Amino acid sequence: MSRRKFICGNWKMHKTASEAVQLVRELRQKLDGTGAQVAVAPPFTALAAVKQALQGSAIQLFGQNCHHEKQGAFTGEVSAPMLKDVGCDGVILGHSERRQYFGETDDQVAKKVRAVLAEALHPIVCVGETLQEREAGRTWEVVSRQVRGALGGLDAAALQRITLAYEPVWAIGTGRTATTAQAQEVHAQIRGLLRELGGAQVAQAVRIQYGGSVKPDNAADLLSQPDVDGALVGGASLKSSDFAAIVTAAR
Ligand code: PGA
Repeated sequence: MSRRKFICGNWKMHKTASEAVQLVRELRQKLDGTGAQVAVAPPFTALAAVKQALQGSAIQLFGQNCHHEKQGAFTGEVSAPMLKDVGCDGVILGHSERRQYFGETDDQVAKKVRAVLAEALHPIVCVGETLQEREAGRTWEVVSRQVRGALGGLDAAALQRITLAYEPVWAIGTGRTATTAQAQEVHAQIRGLLRELGGAQVAQAVRIQYGGSVKPDNAADLLSQPDVDGALVGGASLKSSDFAAIVTAAR
């Protein structure tokens, strides 16, 4: 059984609502009917407009983060039920920019994963080492800690509903992509850990996306690796032609 490739565009803090709708219109022209699993993750302020612009399309809508509580006195935060209400299908969690600039910890990511699963939304859980950690030979120590931290204690049914994204921090927004061998090595290790956490069926089913300077010209190579099941795309997801080319490479 092969895993269906899954490509998600992480728009980060880019695009006003009207710009987002324009980008989605272009994407629909290029991607509707292609059959690949595709999602876009616009900023919170554009979610409602993008949802409307996606009506009748198979392209899914994701949030970029959420709080683990359902509601409360958390100024500036947005909850999983709110994302569900606006029409999201899933949420990106634990992105390295959240960890790096907003101090997000493994423990917080774990709580968010549970909050997102409780709303029957699909989490994409991001993990990845910094350049310093890689150069110190600590890649697997860091990545395995992040995976265990986010997913430890979940049963097999819950684990099957999660997608992981391996995003080496040194490859994000730098134009420096991991080699296919570097990506495949860590992806295979993560799959081994999934087997330990949830059994063979979970390890076989869970998609592991690669992220970090995925572009039209490197996507096919990365996506041809046996344990690379999709891509989490930042910069190149902001241009419809580039994103469409990456989706095409996945098929
Ligand atoms: P990038 O970002 O494709 O611009 O490197 C990837 C990400 O941060 O998800």
